[in-house]
Formats: sequence, C-alpha cells, structure tokens
Amino acid sequence: MSDHDQVKQIDMNYKKDRPKAKNPVQIMDLTLRDGHQSLFATRGRTEDMIPVAEMMDDIGFWALETWGGATFDTMHRFLNEDPWERLRTLKRYIKKTPFSMLLRAQNLVGYRNYADDVARAFVERAAANGMDVFRTFDALNDYRNFETVVPVIKSCGKHFQGCICYTMTEPRLGGEVYNLDYYVSKGKALEAMGADSICLKDMAGLIAPYDAYAIIKALKKAVKIPINLHSHFTSGMSSMSHLKAIEAGVDIIDTCMSPYAYRTSHPAIEPLVMTLLGTNRDTGFDIKALAAVNEILEKEICPKYRHLLDDTKLSIIDINVLLHQTPGGMLSNLVNQLREMDALDKIDQVYAELPRVRKDLGQIPLVTPTSQIVGIQTVNNVLFDDENERYKMITGQVKDLCYGLYGKTAVPINPEVQKKALKGYQRGEEPITCRPAEVIEPELKKAQEDVKGLAMDLDDELIYALYPVTGKRFLQWKYGKEPVPDDVKPVTLEQAKARQELIQKAIAGKLVEKLEKEAPAKGAALRKFNVFVDDTYFEVGVEEIGGAPVVSYIQAPQPVAPAAPAPAAAPAPAAAATAPAPAAAADGTVVTAPMPGMIVRFEKNVGDAVSKGETVVILEAMKMENALPSPVDGTIKAINFKSSDSVPKGAVLCVIG
Ligand code: CO
Repeated sequence: MSDHDQVKQIDMNYKKDRPKAKNPVQIMDLTLRDGHQSLFATRGRTEDMIPVAEMMDDIGFWALETWGGATFDTMHRFLNEDPWERLRTLKRYIKKTPFSMLLRAQNLVGYRNYADDVARAFVERAAANGMDVFRTFDALNDYRNFETVVPVIKSCGKHFQGCICYTMTEPRLGGEVYNLDYYVSKGKALEAMGADSICLKDMAGLIAPYDAYAIIKALKKAVKIPINLHSHFTSGMSSMSHLKAIEAGVDIIDTCMSPYAYRTSHPAIEPLVMTLLGTNRDTGFDIKALAAVNEILEKEICPKYRHLLDDTKLSIIDINVLLHQTPGGMLSNLVNQLREMDALDKIDQVYAELPRVRKDLGQIPLVTPTSQIVGIQTVNNVLFDDENERYKMITGQVKDLCYGLYGKTAVPINPEVQKKALKGYQRGEEPITCRPAEVIEPELKKAQEDVKGLAMDLDDELIYALYPVTGKRFLQWKYGKEPVPDDVKPVTLEQAKARQELIQKAIAGKLVEKLEKEAPAKGAALRKFNVFVDDTYFEVGVEEIGGAPVVSYIQAPQPVAPAAPAPAAAPAPAAAATAPAPAAAADGTVVTAPMPGMIVRFEKNVGDAVSKGETVVILEAMKMENALPSPVDGTIKAINFKSSDSVPKGAVLCVIG
C-alpha cells in the first residue's frame, strides 16, 4: 500500500467508525507490576490497585502483569502484605483478562537458584492462586534453568512465555556474542522447549529501533509462536522500537498506563493507541476508557508514591544506559547505595569499573539478579579495593556465580577472579558444569520443619523457603506474634498530602520555628559535654540553675570520622553520654557495618574464638549477602544485633577482644 493509500484508508476508517483491525497489536499492561517496580521501588499496595482493577479488566489487554519480579520480596518485607493474597484479591476484580507474572526461572521470585522441590511447589501454588501467563526468564539465558518449572507450568495448563534477555557488548546489535544469530537461536530453542510465546526482554531499554526491527523480523521468520516485545523506556528509544517492532510484525507489546509510564518504566499505551488508530494493527482500545483509569491513578493513587520517584533530574531519559548498558533498576539501586554510603561522588568510578567486572564475570546479561550481582560487586570494588588488591570483598553471590550455581556464562569467567572467589568456597573450589539445581539439595521439607507451628499452609511455607529471614518475620507479623512496625503500614491519601506539605514547607525554609525565649547568658558554672549520636557529635553546655541542670546550648552537629579510634585519655564524659554499645567497643576491636543493611546471621556466638579473616557476620545489602571478616584473632566479646535487624552504616555489629 502506498503512503497516499494508507492515509486514505485511515481517513475512511474514521468515517466507518473504526472497524476492527485485521491484525491488532495485542497489549500486555505492566502498570501493576513493572510500572511501580520501575518508578516506585515496587511499593505499590494491593489496596491501590483495586480502584482501577475492574476498569482495566474492561480495556481488552492481552494480559495484565500483576505479580512476580520484585513484588513478592517487597510485599512481605516492606508492605506487610501476603504476596499470595494479592493474586486472590485482584482475581476477584479482574475476571476476564489473564494475569501474567515475571518468573525468574529457577530463581523464582528471589535472587538465587532454589531447589527443584521448592521451584515445583512455587509454580503450582502460583497457578492455583490465579496466575495464567508465566513469563519466564533466566538472567544468563541458560535454558537449563527452565527445565524444572516449564513442565509444571504446562501440567497446570498455563501459558509458558519464554524470554530472551536482550543485552549487548557493542553500542548496537552485533559483535561476537550478542548478534542476530544469537537471538534467533535462542528463539528456536524456546519454541523447541514448548514455549507458547516468546518475549524479547529488553530490561535496560537498550534495543534500538532498527535492531528491534531486525530481530523481530528474523524471529517471525524462524518461529511460529507469537512474539512479545518488552522494552524499558530508560534511554528514550523504546517508543520508536515499539513502532519498528510493530512494522516487523511483532504480536504483543508491553506498555503502562501513562502515570506509571516513561522514565525507567515503559512507554504509555495512550499514544500507541492513537498512533495505530485506523491501521491494520489498531489496538481497538477506547482511549476515553484509558483516560478514566488515568484520572484515578493520577489523583487518588500516585500522590502516595510520588516521594519515591527519582526526580532529581529534569530529564526523564537517562542517556547513561546508552553509554553503560545498565538497566534502570540497577542504576537507581547503585545511586541509592552510593548515596547511603556518602559515596555518590564515586559514581563515575562505578561506571568505569562496571564493564570490567561484567567482563570478568563472563559478559553476562544485566538483569535481576545478575544486575545486582555485577552492580554490588562493582560498588564493593570501587569502595574497598586498593592498588595492591582487586576483588577485596567478594559477595557470596559472585562466589556462587563463579562456581556455576547460576548457570553457564556467555563467555568464560576470568580464571583469576574465579580462583580467588572459590578459595575456601563451601561447595568446593572446582566449578560445576551441570544444570545448577542438580547440586542443590531439596529444601522444602527442612523449610516446613523450620516454620512448624507458625506457617499455616504451603503458601506460608514458601514465603519462608524463599526468604528465610524476612519471610519468617512477615509470618510473625501475619499471625500476631510480633507487632507490625509503623513503617510497613499503609499511608492514607491525607497522610501523603500532609507529608508533601511538610516537604514544601521545608523547601521554603519555613520548617524551623523561631525560639520564643531568648537564651540566658552563660554563667561561670557552665560544664561542657560532648554528645555523640552515630557519626555526628554535639557540644552541649550544661549549667545548674536553681538546683536542676539546664541545657543552655547545643552547638551545631559535627561529623565524626568513623574510623578514628577514641583517644584513651579523655573518654569519661563522652562515654557517659553515648549508648552502651559503642562503650563496649573500648575494650576490643569492632566489626562495623561497611554499608547500611540487614543482619542475616552471626556466624559466631559470644565467647567463640575467631581468627583473622574468618567470617563473623553476614550482612545483606541491596539483596546481596556480604560476609564480613574478623579483622583480628580473638574471642567474640559482644554481639550487638540479631538476625533481621536493620543496621546503619558504621554500626558496631560485634566486638572482638
Ligand atoms: Co521489565
């Protein structure tokens, strides 16, 4: 059809009241999963999905992505919500449109490979609770990691969508590893495994429009099953890539409702509906119905999440991904981690180190969990390495990767790094080559025994099996065995508005109220005290008037160098004013948290002997476990925290004497 004819046809279609397209593009909506995961740190609550659930069910989406990815983790960890319950609740409102989930293959919805028995039980329970489409991916594109879950998806009568993670080593498609042949051969492998559809999963927004065209065209020729494109907006290319993919014959496109679209999320649906209107790929969607959903999201839901949006920059696209090939979620994680560690100035070093670490680790695609694995190891290298030693603090997950526990990497791992990582590794120093889960002992029975008396059913047991520390804590909240902390409780729209007003006030400089009374003059009896609070100290002057001590001034807080040892000579008033834990530090060497995180467990008890370099505590930061070694030989004198406690950077975790 010539351009002129096409315009004429669109014109006619308008007049004919928009007849159904011959080959409509199918749309998967991601608002309720990837949308809030990308923009709002996956903090979307079920109660904030219900107001739009029935309206979204009426749009005509191919599927609604409602679950999986990071939702399972954040729900039980930060929102005090039962992840399984979300599925059942949404199913009551959404009766026509299939549900889709993001399944990390043998990683399920966690960050490591689980045992086969846990994987089977998880997929069965997800299907039973209402899941229809299992979008399954493996971070390494190693489809041996699909072998356990796929037969279960099939036997439950559900849709198996196999993913090809899109990544590259060159500025555009091509090169020695990730070229057109690579993607076509992966597509064929998925079809041979019995995939019902294929998803080209571009988690970093890397796919350029003409490369999307080339791959979709080639895949459409090579396989018979439908092709779905998932492309994040991060770099700003994906709206264009969508259109080129549609021209190449893609069957399904992933989008979000506009308030949850763009930035590191996905293109919005509304412009696409208008773009395709009247063509043979017209979605058929009612743009007014979409606008009605948006109105609710914008006014009633988004104000609760706005504070989570990273709007430090004016630009809504990040050209850094074009330069560094890092997924949006990974970028915001890295920035947050560096900010929490007061090391945001090192971001350029992190960008420079990242491709080196990735190459060392076998040029793996960057997607959860490999994006975290590469990202945190990169941050560790930048913060802790020196000119004499690289890879000073290797995370447990990098060790697992080097062992082969995640699967086969695209190119071999740097043997030096691999050797260092596997030195003293508990599973053995020789890496494996078999399907990773073959070396993982069954885990379900033990998990069930661990939570006997607490878990009420298999769903509860699986929460624990996937997330032992936070999962157990959640079950204790769920069954009233532990009080629910305020910070995991939902906020109302009113509270969210009050919070926003407070921020506005602070920005306008109106938050600090003036002292009504003038301070009295300092007298001769004034005594000075140093008060230490974490890494800052206040000088406080105290003077007795009429019998009672009165605080007469507090000097502005001063940062304290965290590593500076307390001078032995003059500690008395300072020690009296600080909490008991740091006081215990006086008679031993301390192990401090090098980054904010959560205590997984102490490997030692009070009274145990430790030698230098031996792991004393496992600290989880950004979902990665870090083994913290003892800096000296000695005996554990004090342990200041317990499993699942959150600790700030610099917290004294234990004392060795
Ligand atoms: Co995504």
